[in-house]
Amino acid sequence: MSNHPLRLGIAGLGTVGIALISVLNKNAKMMQERCARKIVIAAVNARDKTRDRGVDLSAYRWFDNAEDLAASDEIDVFVELIGGEGDVALKASRKALDGGKHVVTANKAMLAKNGVELAKIAEAKGALLNFEAAVAGGIPIIKTMRETLTANNVERIYGIMNGTCNYMLTRMEREGISYDDCLADAQALGYAEADPTFDVEGFDTAHKLAILTSLAFGTQIAADEIYVEGISSITTQDIQAAKSLGYRIKLLGVAVKTDSGIEQRVHPTMVPLDSAIAQISGVTNAVAIDADVVGNLVMSGPGAGGDATASAVAGDIADIAKCLPGAQTVPALGKPANELAPYKKAQMQSHEGGYFIRMSVKDHAGVFAIIAATMAKHKISLESIVQHGEANQANMNKTIILITHATTESAVREALETIGKDTFLSSQPQMIRIEK
Ligand code: HSE
Repeated sequence: MSNHPLRLGIAGLGTVGIALISVLNKNAKMMQERCARKIVIAAVNARDKTRDRGVDLSAYRWFDNAEDLAASDEIDVFVELIGGEGDVALKASRKALDGGKHVVTANKAMLAKNGVELAKIAEAKGALLNFEAAVAGGIPIIKTMRETLTANNVERIYGIMNGTCNYMLTRMEREGISYDDCLADAQALGYAEADPTFDVEGFDTAHKLAILTSLAFGTQIAADEIYVEGISSITTQDIQAAKSLGYRIKLLGVAVKTDSGIEQRVHPTMVPLDSAIAQISGVTNAVAIDADVVGNLVMSGPGAGGDATASAVAGDIADIAKCLPGAQTVPALGKPANELAPYKKAQMQSHEGGYFIRMSVKDHAGVFAIIAATMAKHKISLESIVQHGEANQANMNKTIILITHATTESAVREALETIGKDTFLSSQPQMIRIEK
Protein backbone atom coordinates (compact mmCIF):
# COMPACT_ATOMS: atom_id res chain seq x y z
CA MET A 1 0.00 0.00 0.00
CA SER A 2 1.45 3.35 -1.06
CA ASN A 3 1.64 5.93 1.70
CA HIS A 4 0.96 8.67 -0.81
CA PRO A 5 -2.65 9.24 -1.66
CA LEU A 6 -3.44 10.13 -5.26
CA ARG A 7 -4.72 13.72 -5.16
CA LEU A 8 -7.33 14.76 -7.69
CA GLY A 9 -8.30 18.17 -8.96
CA ILE A 10 -11.69 18.03 -10.65
CA ALA A 11 -12.51 20.80 -13.12
CA GLY A 12 -16.15 20.98 -14.16
CA LEU A 13 -18.95 20.22 -11.74
CA GLY A 14 -21.80 19.41 -14.09
CA THR A 15 -23.67 16.09 -14.18
CA VAL A 16 -20.50 14.03 -14.68
CA GLY A 17 -18.34 15.94 -12.17
CA ILE A 18 -20.95 15.58 -9.44
CA ALA A 19 -21.55 11.91 -10.29
CA LEU A 20 -17.78 11.32 -10.07
CA ILE A 21 -17.55 12.90 -6.62
CA SER A 22 -20.39 10.70 -5.48
CA VAL A 23 -18.78 7.50 -6.90
CA LEU A 24 -15.38 8.32 -5.40
CA ASN A 25 -16.96 8.88 -1.99
CA LYS A 26 -19.34 5.92 -2.12
CA ASN A 27 -16.75 3.38 -3.28
CA ALA A 28 -13.66 4.95 -1.67
CA LYS A 29 -12.75 1.93 0.48
CA MET A 30 -13.14 -0.57 -2.33
CA MET A 31 -11.12 1.56 -4.74
CA GLN A 32 -8.39 2.01 -2.14
CA GLU A 33 -8.15 -1.76 -1.70
CA ARG A 34 -8.10 -2.40 -5.43
CA CYS A 35 -5.53 0.31 -6.16
CA ALA A 36 -3.47 -0.26 -3.01
CA ARG A 37 -3.60 3.47 -2.65
CA LYS A 38 -5.98 6.06 -1.30
CA ILE A 39 -7.62 8.38 -3.84
CA VAL A 40 -8.61 11.80 -2.51
CA ILE A 41 -10.35 14.76 -4.04
CA ALA A 42 -8.07 17.64 -3.15
CA ALA A 43 -9.61 20.50 -5.12
CA VAL A 44 -12.40 21.39 -7.48
CA ASN A 45 -13.18 24.08 -10.01
CA ALA A 46 -16.28 25.35 -11.78
CA ARG A 47 -17.53 28.64 -13.12
CA ASP A 48 -20.00 29.40 -10.34
CA LYS A 49 -19.08 28.71 -6.71
CA THR A 50 -22.47 29.75 -5.37
CA ARG A 51 -24.57 27.25 -7.36
CA ASP A 52 -26.23 24.56 -5.26
CA ARG A 53 -25.10 21.25 -6.73
CA GLY A 54 -26.68 19.06 -4.09
CA VAL A 55 -23.33 17.87 -2.71
CA ASP A 56 -21.11 19.17 0.05
CA LEU A 57 -17.96 20.57 -1.57
CA SER A 58 -16.62 22.29 1.55
CA ALA A 59 -13.85 19.73 2.13
CA TYR A 60 -12.25 20.49 -1.24
CA ARG A 61 -10.15 23.53 -2.05
CA TRP A 62 -12.06 25.73 -4.50
CA PHE A 63 -10.40 27.20 -7.61
CA ASP A 64 -12.16 29.84 -9.68
CA ASN A 65 -9.84 29.20 -12.58
CA ALA A 66 -9.24 25.82 -14.24
CA GLU A 67 -5.67 26.66 -15.27
CA ASP A 68 -4.77 27.56 -11.69
CA LEU A 69 -6.13 24.20 -10.56
CA ALA A 70 -4.18 22.46 -13.34
CA ALA A 71 -0.98 24.13 -12.16
CA SER A 72 -1.57 23.57 -8.46
CA ASP A 73 1.01 21.61 -6.43
CA GLU A 74 -1.85 20.20 -4.41
CA ILE A 75 -2.93 17.75 -7.11
CA ASP A 76 -1.39 14.79 -8.97
CA VAL A 77 -4.21 14.30 -11.49
CA PHE A 78 -6.16 16.95 -13.34
CA VAL A 79 -9.64 15.59 -14.11
CA GLU A 80 -11.03 17.65 -16.96
CA LEU A 81 -14.83 17.52 -17.09
CA ILE A 82 -15.41 21.02 -18.44
CA GLY A 83 -16.12 19.75 -21.94
CA GLY A 84 -16.25 21.53 -25.27
CA GLU A 85 -13.49 22.17 -27.76
CA GLY A 86 -13.10 25.70 -26.42
CA ASP A 87 -9.95 27.15 -24.94
CA VAL A 88 -10.67 26.60 -21.24
CA ALA A 89 -10.43 22.80 -21.19
CA LEU A 90 -7.56 22.70 -23.68
CA LYS A 91 -5.39 25.33 -22.00
CA ALA A 92 -5.89 23.78 -18.57
CA SER A 93 -5.14 20.26 -19.86
CA ARG A 94 -1.99 21.49 -21.58
CA LYS A 95 -0.91 23.25 -18.41
CA ALA A 96 -1.44 20.14 -16.29
CA LEU A 97 0.52 17.91 -18.68
CA ASP A 98 3.29 20.50 -19.10
CA GLY A 99 3.66 20.40 -15.34
CA GLY A 100 3.99 16.59 -15.43
CA LYS A 101 0.52 15.93 -14.02
CA HIS A 102 -1.66 13.14 -15.28
CA VAL A 103 -4.84 14.15 -17.08
CA VAL A 104 -8.14 12.30 -17.18
CA THR A 105 -10.69 13.76 -19.56
CA ALA A 106 -14.10 12.96 -21.02
CA ASN A 107 -13.68 15.61 -23.70
CA LYS A 108 -14.10 14.01 -27.13
CA ALA A 109 -14.19 17.33 -29.00
CA MET A 110 -10.87 18.41 -27.48
CA LEU A 111 -9.23 15.05 -28.20
CA ALA A 112 -10.57 14.86 -31.75
CA LYS A 113 -8.86 18.19 -32.44
CA ASN A 114 -5.86 18.22 -30.12
CA GLY A 115 -5.45 14.63 -28.95
CA VAL A 116 -2.14 13.99 -30.69
CA GLU A 117 -0.62 17.22 -29.37
CA LEU A 118 -1.75 16.41 -25.82
CA ALA A 119 -0.50 12.82 -26.13
CA LYS A 120 2.93 14.11 -27.21
CA ILE A 121 3.16 16.40 -24.18
CA ALA A 122 2.03 13.59 -21.87
CA GLU A 123 4.65 11.19 -23.25
CA ALA A 124 7.40 13.80 -23.09
CA LYS A 125 6.57 14.45 -19.44
CA GLY A 126 6.03 10.82 -18.43
CA ALA A 127 2.40 11.57 -17.59
CA LEU A 128 -0.74 9.64 -18.44
CA LEU A 129 -3.52 10.99 -20.61
CA ASN A 130 -6.60 8.83 -20.06
CA PHE A 131 -9.92 9.36 -21.81
CA GLU A 132 -12.11 6.30 -21.49
CA ALA A 133 -15.22 8.43 -20.97
CA ALA A 134 -14.71 10.35 -24.21
CA VAL A 135 -16.04 7.53 -26.41
CA ALA A 136 -19.22 5.56 -25.76
CA GLY A 137 -19.54 6.57 -22.09
CA GLY A 138 -19.38 3.54 -19.83
CA ILE A 139 -18.16 1.05 -22.47
CA PRO A 140 -14.44 0.30 -21.86
CA ILE A 141 -13.56 0.63 -25.53
CA ILE A 142 -10.47 2.85 -25.18
CA LYS A 143 -8.66 0.49 -22.84
CA THR A 144 -9.72 -2.43 -25.03
CA MET A 145 -8.26 -0.81 -28.13
CA ARG A 146 -5.21 0.63 -26.43
CA GLU A 147 -4.20 -2.40 -24.41
CA THR A 148 -6.27 -5.56 -24.77
CA LEU A 149 -6.25 -5.77 -28.58
CA THR A 150 -2.55 -4.96 -28.95
CA ALA A 151 -1.96 -8.25 -30.80
CA ASN A 152 -4.70 -7.59 -33.36
CA ASN A 153 -4.75 -5.96 -36.78
CA VAL A 154 -8.06 -4.13 -36.83
CA GLU A 155 -9.85 -4.26 -40.17
CA ARG A 156 -12.98 -2.32 -39.29
CA ILE A 157 -14.39 -0.55 -36.26
CA TYR A 158 -17.92 0.78 -36.22
CA GLY A 159 -20.63 1.57 -33.79
CA ILE A 160 -23.55 3.44 -32.39
CA MET A 161 -21.86 6.18 -30.43
CA ASN A 162 -24.59 8.72 -29.95
CA GLY A 163 -27.32 7.86 -27.50
CA THR A 164 -29.54 10.74 -28.58
CA CYS A 165 -29.73 9.53 -32.19
CA ASN A 166 -30.25 5.92 -31.21
CA TYR A 167 -32.97 6.89 -28.76
CA MET A 168 -34.72 8.92 -31.46
CA LEU A 169 -34.46 6.25 -34.16
CA THR A 170 -35.71 3.61 -31.72
CA ARG A 171 -38.78 5.62 -30.77
CA MET A 172 -39.48 6.64 -34.35
CA GLU A 173 -39.53 2.94 -35.27
CA ARG A 174 -41.39 1.55 -32.27
CA GLU A 175 -43.91 4.30 -31.69
CA GLY A 176 -44.06 6.06 -35.04
CA ILE A 177 -43.30 9.34 -33.25
CA SER A 178 -42.03 12.24 -35.35
CA TYR A 179 -38.39 13.26 -35.47
CA ASP A 180 -39.07 16.62 -33.76
CA ASP A 181 -41.01 15.10 -30.86
CA CYS A 182 -38.29 12.48 -30.28
CA LEU A 183 -35.61 15.17 -30.25
CA ALA A 184 -37.56 17.25 -27.73
CA ASP A 185 -37.88 14.20 -25.45
CA ALA A 186 -34.14 13.39 -25.78
CA GLN A 187 -33.32 16.94 -24.76
CA ALA A 188 -35.73 16.85 -21.82
CA LEU A 189 -34.12 13.60 -20.64
CA GLY A 190 -30.66 15.21 -20.77
CA TYR A 191 -29.17 12.90 -23.44
CA ALA A 192 -28.50 15.57 -26.03
CA GLU A 193 -25.50 17.90 -26.18
CA ALA A 194 -26.00 21.58 -25.31
CA ASP A 195 -26.38 22.14 -29.05
CA PRO A 196 -28.33 19.10 -30.30
CA THR A 197 -27.15 19.62 -33.88
CA PHE A 198 -23.91 18.07 -32.62
CA ASP A 199 -25.88 14.89 -31.96
CA VAL A 200 -28.36 14.73 -34.81
CA GLU A 201 -26.01 15.95 -37.55
CA GLY A 202 -23.40 13.35 -36.61
CA PHE A 203 -20.58 15.58 -35.30
CA ASP A 204 -20.57 14.02 -31.83
CA THR A 205 -20.23 10.57 -33.40
CA ALA A 206 -17.51 11.90 -35.72
CA HIS A 207 -15.43 13.15 -32.78
CA LYS A 208 -15.63 9.73 -31.14
CA LEU A 209 -14.91 7.91 -34.39
CA ALA A 210 -11.80 10.03 -35.03
CA ILE A 211 -10.35 8.90 -31.70
CA LEU A 212 -11.18 5.23 -32.32
CA THR A 213 -9.71 5.34 -35.83
CA SER A 214 -6.37 6.51 -34.47
CA LEU A 215 -6.34 3.74 -31.87
CA ALA A 216 -7.47 1.11 -34.38
CA PHE A 217 -5.03 1.90 -37.16
CA GLY A 218 -2.17 3.67 -35.40
CA THR A 219 -2.69 6.85 -37.40
CA GLN A 220 -2.91 10.55 -36.64
CA ILE A 221 -6.34 11.68 -35.48
CA ALA A 222 -8.11 13.07 -38.56
CA ALA A 223 -11.47 14.40 -37.43
CA ASP A 224 -11.70 16.80 -40.38
CA GLU A 225 -11.43 13.95 -42.89
CA ILE A 226 -14.66 12.22 -41.90
CA TYR A 227 -17.65 12.06 -44.21
CA VAL A 228 -20.51 13.16 -41.93
CA GLU A 229 -24.24 12.90 -42.54
CA GLY A 230 -26.76 13.07 -39.67
CA ILE A 231 -30.22 11.67 -39.13
CA SER A 232 -32.25 14.81 -39.74
CA SER A 233 -33.40 13.62 -43.17
CA ILE A 234 -34.65 10.25 -41.86
CA THR A 235 -38.41 9.86 -41.81
CA THR A 236 -40.65 7.28 -40.18
CA GLN A 237 -41.40 6.21 -43.76
CA ASP A 238 -37.72 5.31 -44.32
CA ILE A 239 -37.65 3.42 -41.04
CA GLN A 240 -40.75 1.39 -41.88
CA ALA A 241 -39.57 0.71 -45.44
CA ALA A 242 -36.20 -0.45 -44.10
CA LYS A 243 -37.95 -2.77 -41.67
CA SER A 244 -40.14 -4.30 -44.35
CA LEU A 245 -36.95 -5.13 -46.28
CA GLY A 246 -35.22 -6.74 -43.26
CA TYR A 247 -33.16 -3.75 -42.11
CA ARG A 248 -33.05 -1.25 -39.26
CA ILE A 249 -31.66 2.28 -39.56
CA LYS A 250 -28.87 3.27 -37.15
CA LEU A 251 -26.53 6.24 -37.07
CA LEU A 252 -23.17 4.50 -37.39
CA GLY A 253 -19.62 5.76 -37.24
CA VAL A 254 -17.50 3.45 -39.40
CA ALA A 255 -13.74 3.32 -39.94
CA VAL A 256 -12.47 0.70 -42.33
CA LYS A 257 -9.18 -0.08 -43.97
CA THR A 258 -9.44 -0.15 -47.77
CA ASP A 259 -6.89 -0.56 -50.56
CA SER A 260 -6.79 3.20 -51.09
CA GLY A 261 -6.60 4.27 -47.45
CA ILE A 262 -8.83 4.51 -44.40
CA GLU A 263 -12.48 5.29 -44.88
CA GLN A 264 -14.05 7.24 -42.01
CA ARG A 265 -17.75 7.92 -42.30
CA VAL A 266 -20.73 8.79 -40.13
CA HIS A 267 -24.17 8.37 -41.65
CA PRO A 268 -27.57 6.76 -41.19
CA THR A 269 -26.99 3.13 -42.06
CA MET A 270 -29.23 0.17 -42.79
CA VAL A 271 -28.09 -2.84 -40.80
CA PRO A 272 -29.65 -6.32 -41.08
CA LEU A 273 -32.44 -6.78 -38.52
CA ASP A 274 -30.76 -9.90 -37.13
CA SER A 275 -27.31 -8.29 -36.64
CA ALA A 276 -25.97 -7.59 -33.15
CA ILE A 277 -25.81 -3.85 -33.82
CA ALA A 278 -29.50 -3.78 -34.83
CA GLN A 279 -30.48 -5.01 -31.36
CA ILE A 280 -29.03 -1.91 -29.64
CA SER A 281 -31.98 0.23 -28.66
CA GLY A 282 -32.63 3.50 -26.89
CA VAL A 283 -29.75 5.50 -25.47
CA THR A 284 -27.45 2.45 -25.39
CA ASN A 285 -24.21 2.59 -27.39
CA ALA A 286 -22.29 -0.25 -29.02
CA VAL A 287 -18.91 -0.58 -30.67
CA ALA A 288 -18.06 -3.49 -32.98
CA ILE A 289 -14.56 -4.48 -34.06
CA ASP A 290 -13.46 -6.85 -36.81
CA ALA A 291 -9.87 -7.91 -36.17
CA ASP A 292 -7.59 -10.64 -37.45
CA VAL A 293 -6.97 -12.49 -34.19
CA VAL A 294 -10.01 -11.99 -31.99
CA GLY A 295 -12.49 -12.05 -34.87
CA ASN A 296 -15.66 -10.03 -34.31
CA LEU A 297 -16.24 -8.28 -31.04
CA VAL A 298 -19.26 -6.22 -29.99
CA MET A 299 -19.35 -4.25 -26.77
CA SER A 300 -22.50 -2.48 -25.68
CA GLY A 301 -23.57 -0.40 -22.73
CA PRO A 302 -24.65 3.03 -21.56
CA GLY A 303 -23.11 5.71 -23.73
CA ALA A 304 -24.10 8.76 -21.75
CA GLY A 305 -25.36 9.87 -18.37
CA GLY A 306 -23.62 10.88 -15.16
CA ASP A 307 -23.01 7.48 -13.58
CA ALA A 308 -21.91 5.64 -16.74
CA THR A 309 -19.49 8.43 -17.62
CA ALA A 310 -18.26 8.70 -14.02
CA SER A 311 -17.60 4.95 -14.01
CA ALA A 312 -15.24 5.38 -16.97
CA VAL A 313 -13.54 8.44 -15.44
CA ALA A 314 -13.08 6.66 -12.11
CA GLY A 315 -11.58 3.66 -13.94
CA ASP A 316 -9.05 5.98 -15.60
CA ILE A 317 -8.19 7.47 -12.21
CA ALA A 318 -7.76 3.98 -10.74
CA ASP A 319 -5.35 3.06 -13.56
CA ILE A 320 -3.21 6.04 -12.60
CA ALA A 321 -3.40 5.15 -8.91
CA LYS A 322 -2.16 1.63 -9.71
CA CYS A 323 0.79 2.93 -11.73
CA LEU A 324 4.01 2.65 -9.76
CA PRO A 325 6.21 5.76 -9.69
CA GLY A 326 8.73 5.69 -12.52
CA ALA A 327 6.94 2.84 -14.31
CA GLN A 328 6.67 2.90 -18.09
CA THR A 329 3.37 4.57 -18.95
CA VAL A 330 0.95 3.38 -21.63
CA PRO A 331 0.95 5.73 -24.66
CA ALA A 332 -2.34 7.61 -24.81
CA LEU A 333 -3.10 6.54 -28.39
CA GLY A 334 -1.80 3.00 -28.11
CA LYS A 335 1.58 3.73 -29.68
CA PRO A 336 3.94 6.66 -29.10
CA ALA A 337 2.32 9.81 -30.47
CA ASN A 338 5.49 10.69 -32.44
CA GLU A 339 5.22 7.39 -34.29
CA LEU A 340 1.58 7.63 -35.41
CA ALA A 341 1.37 7.17 -39.17
CA PRO A 342 -0.06 9.97 -41.31
CA TYR A 343 -3.75 9.41 -41.95
CA LYS A 344 -4.35 8.33 -45.56
CA LYS A 345 -7.92 9.07 -46.51
CA ALA A 346 -9.96 6.80 -48.77
CA GLN A 347 -12.30 9.03 -50.79
CA MET A 348 -15.99 8.65 -50.04
CA GLN A 349 -16.69 8.46 -53.78
CA SER A 350 -14.91 5.11 -53.85
CA HIS A 351 -16.91 3.67 -50.93
CA GLU A 352 -18.34 0.29 -51.91
CA GLY A 353 -21.51 -1.19 -50.50
CA GLY A 354 -25.20 -1.70 -50.99
CA TYR A 355 -27.64 1.21 -51.06
CA PHE A 356 -31.28 1.79 -50.20
CA ILE A 357 -32.87 4.43 -52.43
CA ARG A 358 -36.36 5.81 -51.88
CA MET A 359 -37.99 7.92 -54.55
CA SER A 360 -41.31 9.63 -54.64
CA VAL A 361 -42.44 9.56 -58.28
CA LYS A 362 -45.37 10.61 -60.38
CA ASP A 363 -47.30 7.52 -61.36
CA HIS A 364 -46.52 7.39 -65.11
CA ALA A 365 -46.11 4.40 -67.37
CA GLY A 366 -42.40 3.62 -67.94
CA VAL A 367 -40.99 5.14 -64.74
CA PHE A 368 -39.76 1.75 -63.49
CA ALA A 369 -38.12 1.13 -66.86
CA ILE A 370 -36.27 4.47 -66.84
CA ILE A 371 -35.00 3.91 -63.31
CA ALA A 372 -33.87 0.36 -64.07
CA ALA A 373 -32.17 1.46 -67.31
CA THR A 374 -30.34 4.34 -65.56
CA MET A 375 -29.10 2.01 -62.86
CA ALA A 376 -27.92 -0.48 -65.48
CA LYS A 377 -26.13 2.31 -67.38
CA HIS A 378 -24.14 3.06 -64.21
CA LYS A 379 -23.44 -0.67 -63.74
CA ILE A 380 -25.56 -0.80 -60.60
CA SER A 381 -27.11 -4.19 -60.06
CA LEU A 382 -30.45 -4.17 -58.24
CA GLU A 383 -31.27 -6.62 -55.48
CA SER A 384 -34.88 -5.47 -55.34
CA ILE A 385 -37.19 -2.78 -56.66
CA VAL A 386 -40.62 -2.34 -55.15
CA GLN A 387 -43.43 0.14 -55.32
CA HIS A 388 -44.91 1.07 -51.98
CA GLY A 389 -48.21 2.55 -50.92
CA GLU A 390 -51.37 3.62 -52.57
CA ALA A 391 -51.41 6.40 -55.09
CA ASN A 392 -52.23 9.70 -53.48
CA GLN A 393 -55.27 10.73 -55.47
CA ALA A 394 -54.40 14.42 -55.32
CA ASN A 395 -51.03 14.16 -57.06
CA MET A 396 -50.79 10.47 -57.98
CA ASN A 397 -47.40 10.09 -56.28
CA LYS A 398 -46.00 6.68 -55.51
CA THR A 399 -42.96 5.54 -53.59
CA ILE A 400 -40.37 3.37 -55.30
CA ILE A 401 -37.73 1.64 -53.20
CA LEU A 402 -34.54 0.15 -54.59
CA ILE A 403 -31.98 -1.99 -52.85
CA THR A 404 -28.74 -2.29 -54.78
CA HIS A 405 -26.07 -4.94 -54.69
CA ALA A 406 -22.60 -3.68 -53.80
CA THR A 407 -21.67 -0.73 -55.95
CA THR A 408 -19.72 2.49 -55.53
CA GLU A 409 -20.80 5.79 -54.00
CA SER A 410 -19.86 7.58 -57.23
CA ALA A 411 -22.03 5.28 -59.36
CA VAL A 412 -25.05 5.83 -57.09
CA ARG A 413 -24.57 9.57 -56.99
CA GLU A 414 -24.21 9.80 -60.77
CA ALA A 415 -27.28 7.62 -61.34
CA LEU A 416 -29.35 9.74 -58.96
CA GLU A 417 -28.15 12.91 -60.64
CA THR A 418 -29.32 11.55 -63.98
CA ILE A 419 -32.67 10.47 -62.54
CA GLY A 420 -32.99 13.85 -60.81
CA LYS A 421 -33.04 15.56 -64.23
CA ASP A 422 -36.13 13.63 -65.22
CA THR A 423 -39.56 15.08 -64.59
CA PHE A 424 -41.18 12.12 -62.86
CA LEU A 425 -39.52 12.72 -59.45
CA SER A 426 -41.74 14.57 -56.98
CA SER A 427 -38.96 15.21 -54.45
CA GLN A 428 -35.25 14.58 -53.90
CA PRO A 429 -34.50 10.85 -53.58
CA GLN A 430 -33.43 9.49 -50.19
CA MET A 431 -30.26 7.38 -50.19
CA ILE A 432 -29.14 5.29 -47.22
CA ARG A 433 -26.02 3.11 -47.18
CA ILE A 434 -26.21 -0.53 -46.15
CA GLU A 435 -23.57 -2.03 -43.85
CA LYS A 436 -23.29 -5.79 -43.70
N1 HSE B 1 -24.94 13.63 -26.43
C1 HSE B 1 -24.17 12.43 -26.34
C2 HSE B 1 -25.08 11.28 -26.72
C3 HSE B 1 -23.63 12.28 -24.95
O1 HSE B 1 -26.26 11.50 -26.99
O2 HSE B 1 -24.61 10.17 -26.78
C4 HSE B 1 -22.37 11.51 -24.86
O3 HSE B 1 -21.37 11.96 -25.69
